[in-house]
Amino acid sequence: DKGNHRHFMEKEIYEQPEVIAHALGHYVNFIENRVVPISDAIDFGKVPSLAISACGTAYLAGLIGKYWFERYARLPVEIDVASEFRYREIPLSPQSAALFISQSGETADTLASLRYCKEHGLKIGAVVNARESTIARESDAVFPILAGPEIGVASTKAFTCQLAVLAALAVGAGKARGTISGEEEQPLVKSLAEMPRIMGQVLNSIQPKIESLSRELSKCHDVLYLGRGTSFPLAMEGALKLKEISYIHAEGYAAGELKHGPIALIDENMPVIVIAPHDRFFDKTVSNMQEVAARGGRIILITDEKGAAASKLDTMHTIVLPAVDEIIAPMIFSLPLQLLAYHTAVFMGTDVDQPRNLAKSVTVE
Ligand code: M6R
Repeated sequence: DKGNHRHFMEKEIYEQPEVIAHALGHYVNFIENRVVPISDAIDFGKVPSLAISACGTAYLAGLIGKYWFERYARLPVEIDVASEFRYREIPLSPQSAALFISQSGETADTLASLRYCKEHGLKIGAVVNARESTIARESDAVFPILAGPEIGVASTKAFTCQLAVLAALAVGAGKARGTISGEEEQPLVKSLAEMPRIMGQVLNSIQPKIESLSRELSKCHDVLYLGRGTSFPLAMEGALKLKEISYIHAEGYAAGELKHGPIALIDENMPVIVIAPHDRFFDKTVSNMQEVAARGGRIILITDEKGAAASKLDTMHTIVLPAVDEIIAPMIFSLPLQLLAYHTAVFMGTDVDQPRNLAKSVTVE
């Protein structure tokens, strides 16, 4: 049931610290700060490349995973939405492995992409919530995300659990490939272990700010989300969450793409949500914010304490999160995006848990 919450989505947002801790417990040894070996079926130490495919929010989790596998394990990743992946006739090496990410484990396009990879001899891994699902059954290795039942159509806790599992797998792959040393592994895993506590702290502190901001967003027709690095897929996820439950038009863009088209949209009616942790991309993102500000755009900056101190820009709102290691930033920065979408939809009076035209599990093409 919904407990003390108005909607399942709200309940699932607030469950995240607990379910992420539970999921990580499966992949991480918290005492030694090491990832634990999970599967013999896929040898991440030997595969020459990785393919990833999924739909919707699960695809965006995979896109963030791509950044991690490439950075931490130096493993090239081919990724596409499953509805394209299945038909692209991608040349794939049978020595490679493929990961399919799905909350339900029943998504038709994801399953078809899985079967395409299987026919080409790749080892198949399933990052799924439903362990008894078709995608899990047809895979060589199952990486459960252990999020518990997700009822709200808008995926929240499944997304952050998918990310937590992909982060642990990427660190494990890096170790197996010798691109992460034992010394480098420990602080990364320590950050993952600290994540549930930090998530709890964020969820307990940002609600009032988010509610007043959501009231303003609920009056808008279009919202642009920008980010660089892993904050780029996160920008797309923030936009997807807002559009699917509030029906406000929203787009997520790589901040560096702004001047290649979307900047033409900027005016005083267009809120621009900038996701900018104080990471190696921060200065570049600030220069994109300056371009927005110069055109009268209304900036909502989601940053951390260091970013808030470093940015001198006049923003409409700034949401300040704790400064965290880069590997956990996507999970922490997901929280204000989920809450913004949720409260905006509540102000608009939409059916938050069961948005129009959408189903929780998409079992047809
Ligand atoms: O069950 P799956 O994870 O395979 O579902 C994939 C998408 O349909 C799903 O993530 C969808 O985009 C969500 N409604 C987004 O919140």
